[in-house]
Amino acid sequence: MRIDVLTLFPEMCEGVFSTSILGKAREKGIVSLNTVNFRDFSGNKHNSVDDTPYGGGGGMVLKPDPIFAAVEHVLAASGNLELPRSEGEQAGEADNVHTIHDDGEAAEYNGESTAQGKPRVILMCPQGRTYNQQIAEELAQEEHLIFICGHYEGYDERIREHLVTDELSIGDYVLTGGELPALTVIDSIVRLQPGALGNETSAVTDSFSTGLLEYPHYTRPAEFRGWKVPDILLSGHHANIEVWRREQALQRTLERRPDLLETVELTAKDKAALKR
Ligand code: ADE
Repeated sequence: MRIDVLTLFPEMCEGVFSTSILGKAREKGIVSLNTVNFRDFSGNKHNSVDDTPYGGGGGMVLKPDPIFAAVEHVLAASGNLELPRSEGEQAGEADNVHTIHDDGEAAEYNGESTAQGKPRVILMCPQGRTYNQQIAEELAQEEHLIFICGHYEGYDERIREHLVTDELSIGDYVLTGGELPALTVIDSIVRLQPGALGNETSAVTDSFSTGLLEYPHYTRPAEFRGWKVPDILLSGHHANIEVWRREQALQRTLERRPDLLETVELTAKDKAALKR
C-alpha cells in the first residue's frame, strides 16, 4: 500500500512515519509512507499557497493550483497519469466519489474501491464524514491513498469538486490543521495491514472490530497493592475465560457505549448476559 500526505508541515508526519509500528511497517515494505510539501508546487515567486477569499470576508483560502499540481506529481511518481476524478464529472456523480452525508446509516460508503489503480484523494476537514473503524477497514483495502492537509484556512471549492474523492473528519471539534487527523486515520489503516502488528490476533479482537468495547486485561503480578486479578483468569479454564471476556465486553459496552449494541449481532447468551 502507498500513502502520500500533502502538507505544509512534512516534519509533523515524518516523526510518526518513522516510529513504532508505522516505522516498522515502513521498514518491512508493508507500506510506503510519503510526504509532499505542496508549497513546492506554488508556481509563484512568493511561494504562496493561499489567497484572500473572493467576495470578501476573513481568513485565507488554499489555492487550487498547488494542490492539483502536487497530486499530479504524486500520480506521476506512482505511475498513474489520470486524476482520480476525470474532467466534466459533477460532484458526487463519479463512481469513485464517496459522497459525504451526515446522516449516519445512509452515509455508508458504497464499499467499493476506486476504479482499478486510481487512488482515493482524501481531504481532512471538520465538514467530512465522521471517521470510524468501518471506514478504516475499507480504506485499508486500497492500494493508494492521498491525504490533503490544510492549515488555518479553507479550501478552494474546486479542490472538493474536481479532485477529492472523500472528505473525512475525526470528530466534532476543530483542530489547527489536517495533519493530526490524517495521521490518526493513517495509523488506524497501517495497523490493519497484514504483518504490521507483531501479534496477528490483536487487530481482530480490537474494540470496534468485534463491534464491542474490549474486555479488561490483566498481567502480573496477580495481586498489586491488594488489588487482585479476577480468579477466572488464573483458572486456566480457557472456555470459561472466553465466556467471562465476552460478558465483560458486553457489560462495558452497555455501560459506556450502548449505541454500539444496536448494530452488533447478539446471541441469546449475550442477551441473557446483558440482562444480568
Ligand atoms: N481539520 C481541522 N479539524 C479537523 C477535524 N476535526 N477532522 C479532520 N480534519 C480537521
